[in-house]
Amino acid sequence: MFSEQLGYIEKAKSIAAARYGVPKACINTYGCQQNVSDSEHIKGMLEKMGYAFTEDASDADFVLFNTCAVREHAEDRVYGNIGTMKALKKARPDMIVAVCGCMAQQEKVAERIRKSYPYVDILFGTHLIHRFPEFLYRRLNGSKRIFDISTDTKHIVEGIPVHRDKTVKGWLPIMYGCDNFCTYCIVPYVRGRERSRASCEILREAEQMIAAGVKDITLLGQNVNSYGKGLSEDINFAKLIRKINDISGEFRIRFMTSHPKDCTLELLDAMRDCEKVAHHLHLPVQCGNNRVLGVMNRRYTREKYLSLIKAARSRMPDLSITSDIIVGFPGETYEEFCDTLSLVKEVEYNSLFTFIYSARPGTPAAEMPDIISRAEKGKWFNELLQAQDIIGKQKQNDMKGKTYRVLCEEESENEGFIMGRTNGTDVIEFAGDKTLIGKFVNVKVIDTNNVLKGTLI
Ligand code: SAH
Ligand code: SF4
Ligand code: F3S
Repeated sequence: MFSEQLGYIEKAKSIAAARYGVPKACINTYGCQQNVSDSEHIKGMLEKMGYAFTEDASDADFVLFNTCAVREHAEDRVYGNIGTMKALKKARPDMIVAVCGCMAQQEKVAERIRKSYPYVDILFGTHLIHRFPEFLYRRLNGSKRIFDISTDTKHIVEGIPVHRDKTVKGWLPIMYGCDNFCTYCIVPYVRGRERSRASCEILREAEQMIAAGVKDITLLGQNVNSYGKGLSEDINFAKLIRKINDISGEFRIRFMTSHPKDCTLELLDAMRDCEKVAHHLHLPVQCGNNRVLGVMNRRYTREKYLSLIKAARSRMPDLSITSDIIVGFPGETYEEFCDTLSLVKEVEYNSLFTFIYSARPGTPAAEMPDIISRAEKGKWFNELLQAQDIIGKQKQNDMKGKTYRVLCEEESENEGFIMGRTNGTDVIEFAGDKTLIGKFVNVKVIDTNNVLKGTLI
């Protein structure tokens, strides 16, 4: 229960105030939206402990690295950045440095940080975010370094305060963890088993967000389509979005990520019927070859995936579809990669998130023979990017002359311009002032020069 932490919050607050005046925290977040949301909760707790926020680590009394383990490159960056804390901490020994997130949850990483990064004061795993006030208080109060990656995947702790980074858009976790064990993926190991929040908690939080002015809510989960499994109430993801759609107010509902194996016609019907649900489906395919999909343990075929796309488009002709793709999975041949290429051309995605396979120690794929060189995989990767580039440009061209209802999200880097997002995924830049932010307006696309340019109607 989070109420157990309230005492620690008060005690940490008085020590920090006495030591630093107004204490400042610098939060560095890597990885997916789940981590962004976790960081918003950590910031919520810090705020209750009297902390203000800074982007500059050298100006901070508390520095946190909320890490991602999904690819090796992500991990390397984190080690490098933690390393820069050595000099800062030497100059300011009363500063506290902490590491959390998916990297921290791995025993080997925790061990490496304990041994090689002695200036890291606190390390905690993905299951213990709610105990952060206790960890910070103990270290502020002079305890030894704190390293705790114990797991409890049965319970969800509700009631953690949250400091949202943005006012117009907001993240709303509906479930945690993943049970799918795709053979390349570290997430199930570092995030634990799937567990869903009670729908009443989600609805309450959605109502609070809308009352606070949020206009675009993204429901988060590694596999939102399996929402509700294990709950005693009669609920699934399609029913949940219908309930959120019934909340009054003008706002949009988005969600990610959908796993194709659990994407039902019931969900597509709900998307079509609910006027507040954005017409965007992020449906990661990973690869277009059935043998490779099988070894990846994705549990759908190319044909099943394509039939889902067809079913979705027949219900929502204006649907934006995006995907994740891994190039160079162990054992993948160039011919098999060409099946991915042909699938991408057939689906005509609005945009793609593409990755070269990265071996994650501890996953089954990391044990599989992988003979294709990185350079060769890089060539395939570029071939894929080029194919998608042509498709993306064509899609943008098709938008020319048409009018779209956009949510004004933020000011553009170009002064006097606003960035608005369509009901799909396209962002249109148009002349307007910042009083428009948070409003829905109609914008006509007039030009497509990499960015879409529009004019307010
Ligand atoms: N739960 C989501 C994805 C989470 S990870 C889903 O199932 O779609 C985000 C993306 O990172 C994945 O979709 C995959 O494309 C990519 N990814 C995961 N593990 C990877 C690895 N070992 N190497 C390269 N890309 C990987
Ligand atoms: Fe990883 Fe697969 Fe789970 Fe997505 S569904 S988080 S890719 S194991
Ligand atoms: Fe990375 Fe963890 Fe998300 S591994 S992608 S931050 S769930």
